[in-house]
Amino acid sequence: MRGRSPARRIVFLGPPGAGKGTQASELARELHVPHLSTGELLRAAVAEGSPLGRSADGHMRAGRLVPDDLVLEILRERLGRPDAARGFLLDGYPRTEAQAATLERLTALDVVVWFDVAPRTLTERLSGRWTCPRCGSVYNVAGRPPRTAGRCDLDGGELVQRPDDRPEAVEVRLKVFGEQTAPLLEHYRRRGLLEVVDGSGTPSEVAARLRQLLGVPESL
Ligand code: AP5
Ligand code: MG
Repeated sequence: MRGRSPARRIVFLGPPGAGKGTQASELARELHVPHLSTGELLRAAVAEGSPLGRSADGHMRAGRLVPDDLVLEILRERLGRPDAARGFLLDGYPRTEAQAATLERLTALDVVVWFDVAPRTLTERLSGRWTCPRCGSVYNVAGRPPRTAGRCDLDGGELVQRPDDRPEAVEVRLKVFGEQTAPLLEHYRRRGLLEVVDGSGTPSEVAARLRQLLGVPESL
């Protein structure tokens, strides 16, 4: 448990399918800070067809990291908006030692949460994920199915699978995570910023663990 006021400059780190986005969207609402997902920002740029999105698209489909300069451009713009001055929940950045060094130059952090999830659970979660392209709601055929198969509960939009959730791309993403992102566990442990959350179990079980380790009161 942390001090009396909950942390507000938070980074979520963890492998693909660990539940970062699921937990971040809920917690960010409760803490009144923006949920900044570099993956979501990049997917929006791809959908828009901007030059940055066109450059990022191939890397993302293949499961590779998008080059640092492109991700930094998008992150710097988003972190610089007024709503991020109160704090933020950063999901999916940094993913390399170089990105961690860049982030240190942009902002201080209160805590880095590492999601610990078994590899088999990750692939099960990714293969069952369906997303609403209109509103971004995320479902899972196993754990969180939509009320009507293939349709978003909120706006009735047709659900789609992410192109990088194909098994070939998942394999690359997990490998990239192990080689380039996993070393950040020690990086943040050395700086005294690291908290590890057990990401197994239901989303509400994980949310309860997160609240406890971040010191978020039930009433918030
Ligand atoms: P990004 O979008 O960040 O993908 P990721 O890190 O691979 O993580 P995911 O979004 O797949 O998983 P998640 O942990 O958010 O899990 P979720 O909550 O959705 O990045 C995509 C790509 O963008 C990268 O590969 C790269 O190309 C590029 N990119 C992004 N940032 C970059 C950077 N900094 N540098 C370079 N390139 C970058 O959950 C997954 C599924 O499981 C869902 O269906 C959900 O409903 C379900 N679920 C969640 N929690 C539970 C639970 N507790 N029990 C059962 N099911 C659950
Ligand atoms: Mg995500």
